[in-house]
Amino acid sequence: MRKLLESLRFLCTVMVLLTVSLFAVFCFQNLEDHMAAGINRRFPPQDISVNREEESRPQTREENPLISYTENDNKQVPTHRDSKLGQTCENEDDFEQWICENEHDFDRLSKRLAKTKVGGHIFMRDSITLEFTKKPQLRAVYEYIQQNMKHASRFCETGFNGGHSSMMWAKLFLGKIEIISFDMCYNNGGCDIGLEEIHRLYPDMKHTLIREDSTINLPNYTKENPNIKCEFIFVDGGHTGDVPEKDLYNFKPMAKDNHIVVMDDCVWNLTNSDYTNWIGKAINKGVEDKLICPITCKPMYIPKMKRNTSTCFHKYCK
Ligand SMILES: C[S@@+](CC[C@H](N)C(=O)[O-])C[C@H]1O[C@@H](n2cnc3c(N)ncnc32)[C@H](O)[C@@H]1O
Repeated sequence: MRKLLESLRFLCTVMVLLTVSLFAVFCFQNLEDHMAAGINRRFPPQDISVNREEESRPQTREENPLISYTENDNKQVPTHRDSKLGQTCENEDDFEQWICENEHDFDRLSKRLAKTKVGGHIFMRDSITLEFTKKPQLRAVYEYIQQNMKHASRFCETGFNGGHSSMMWAKLFLGKIEIISFDMCYNNGGCDIGLEEIHRLYPDMKHTLIREDSTINLPNYTKENPNIKCEFIFVDGGHTGDVPEKDLYNFKPMAKDNHIVVMDDCVWNLTNSDYTNWIGKAINKGVEDKLICPITCKPMYIPKMKRNTSTCFHKYCK
């Protein structure tokens, strides 16, 4: 009987020990899972499969500090993004549709120009949203041309820079216009890159770039070529001192009967020391002297640049 009791006690002890060990193993496994979950909460596992849509979305500078900037641009405005060639564009709005279909070439040009001294062109992008900062001006010019200039044959401009504005004129007429541009081209080969890119798109388009100071070259050119006239005159060269005024006055002999003269970046209330003032002054003087007659000014506020600005359309008075 005593032996039986001892055997039972031994059996009970073994069973208790077994239960305790099983319980310990169970607890340990739970603790491990729990700890792993905690670690994952702090460092969520990465999904390493590539999401193509996400990949093609333009990145902001925060997401990708490698987006390149022009070396001389203190505001660090990105010069390009990799917009897709042949992307599908479905916009109700004519202008948005045009931008969507063409931005690839403007961005390609900006990308090529990133290492030059080209800054301040009309297709700059905002550093955060990557929207075109001058979209309201682009729209104003686009809509004016679409509505009023179906049959233009020659565009003339001061301020070729890296060729963005010329590329815009060329694209609007699918290369079936002639362009005459004036620029000093002190921009590390930026002018040559611009010419190359425009030529790549429209190899048969006639494009003349007259280098050196427009305040000297433009009056010389008009004297030597009295029969060369333009329907569209874009004054976007030097923005300070008497350069905008001289360009405005010197372009007059080149104006065809049915022409338009467009000045970008202007203000007319002259309340600050912004560089747009010089252009506003040139316009005010031109109107006072009855050199130019106003057609319309498209005032616009550009939030990202915190600037009131305007694109003004005039005709040379008869
Ligand atoms: C605002 S950028 C022109 C931007 C260009 N229209 C675009 O959007 O692509 C001004 C250009 O004017 C040129 N410029 C400044 N002063 C000039 C002058 N006196 N004669 C000729 N070009 C001048 C600069 O070299 C610069 O390329």
